[in-house]
Amino acid sequence: MQGADRALSAIARALGDDAVLRDPDVRASYATDESEVPASTPAAVVRARSTEDVAAVMAAASEHRVPVTPRAGGTGRVGGAVPVEGGLVLSVERMDAVEHIERRDGIAVVQPGVVTGALHAAVEAEGLFYPPDPNSLGSCALGGNIAANAGGPRAFKYGVTRQYVLGLTVVLPDGTVVSLGRRTAKGVTGYDLTALMVGSEGTLGVVTEAIVRLIPKPESVHTLMVFLADDQDIAGAVDEALSRRIVPSCVELLDAGALDIVSRQAGLAVPRGASAMLLMELDGDDAVVPGQLETVGNALDDRGAVEVLVAQNASERERLWAARRELSHSFRKEAAFKLSEDVVVPRTKLAALLGRCRAIAEEHAITMPSYGHAGDGNLHVNFLWDDPGARPRVDDAIKALFEAVVQMGGTLSGEHGIGVLKAPYLPLEQSAALIALQERVKGVFDPEGIMNPGKIFPAAARRFHGAC
Ligand code: LAC
Ligand code: ZN
Repeated sequence: MQGADRALSAIARALGDDAVLRDPDVRASYATDESEVPASTPAAVVRARSTEDVAAVMAAASEHRVPVTPRAGGTGRVGGAVPVEGGLVLSVERMDAVEHIERRDGIAVVQPGVVTGALHAAVEAEGLFYPPDPNSLGSCALGGNIAANAGGPRAFKYGVTRQYVLGLTVVLPDGTVVSLGRRTAKGVTGYDLTALMVGSEGTLGVVTEAIVRLIPKPESVHTLMVFLADDQDIAGAVDEALSRRIVPSCVELLDAGALDIVSRQAGLAVPRGASAMLLMELDGDDAVVPGQLETVGNALDDRGAVEVLVAQNASERERLWAARRELSHSFRKEAAFKLSEDVVVPRTKLAALLGRCRAIAEEHAITMPSYGHAGDGNLHVNFLWDDPGARPRVDDAIKALFEAVVQMGGTLSGEHGIGVLKAPYLPLEQSAALIALQERVKGVFDPEGIMNPGKIFPAAARRFHGAC
């Protein structure tokens, strides 16, 4: 690709030769993310160290019309960081500093390559709290969290990434640097392009710095493990807490299929008669939380929970969470093939959705265990199969799931984004007029179509999926 060679010469002159990696092994390691999208090897990987580096890369790529796929932690689930159209992968993994924490103003200024768990540790050392906590927090990075508007277990009480991003430095596809948003608590000047950028899946520009909002760190956190006889009781269990004006920080759900996998792989003891589990967490003041824990635990007992257990100490809590955080990887060990969705329905429809999933699994003869963020109605429905010939059945089952979700007033993706994998299904949820409007927005930012091409829009992803 001549354009790529010319762009890379300009990039090497600006950033230094060592920033451009062409070694086949290195390129191969940037060909995938944590999704099931097949590998697509870039012509080169460029590792940026600063906003100026990113600006130089984008200016050269734009001049020579070379596709650029930005990448932070590479832990995405829908192929957002897979360079499906080749070109360059622009890695921000070396831009991993928490530049400063302004404790009294409650903000942190952060680079996009910082691992989310490291950001947590840095702000918590100051008595502050950055709530978004995708389950991959040990390996995912803030840039990807911003691209996907990541959620995670604590979103039920605290909200998602977008609610914590006040301002962004962004390099546009032509290399122009813009500062979006603000560093103040309030601010309504102009269009809210910060909100647009969060969740745009790297298709509008490259985030090189973020100003995030911090809140005081809760004094204590307690964990309840609630086993239910019937997954139809889930919404009721959440109601028990809310009706007492207690908002759990998270209510994580495992259905019977997921419980079976965790009990086998992580040795979780599941009481007889349990067909669902909720991992419920309450946080707040030391003086208040233990009382709330007792209130919620007793209410769930009275409601007929099979068993309500309180994690006795930090290490027990960690053990439970380790099993929960590993669920996605545990599922992968169960079958030769796995696809995972992250649909959302109104919380009161969660039981109906689980029922629908059982029917779809039976109808299409696919194993479909689910887990997710019950408080948000956000379900990770998994599809596991061993026979490669079963793929058409899986695709039919996924379509049936999405149709059911939309019919229930839900949405295709709660936290992973559309990327490559869900692009063909976008018209199930959004009108042709709305998709066209978003394509025009994309065209304003990226007239050459070089910024993470092949993502979100059905027409853009057609090269990957074929005519659909
Ligand atoms: C989780 C990720 C997959 O909740 O979103 O485990
Ligand atoms: Zn999740």
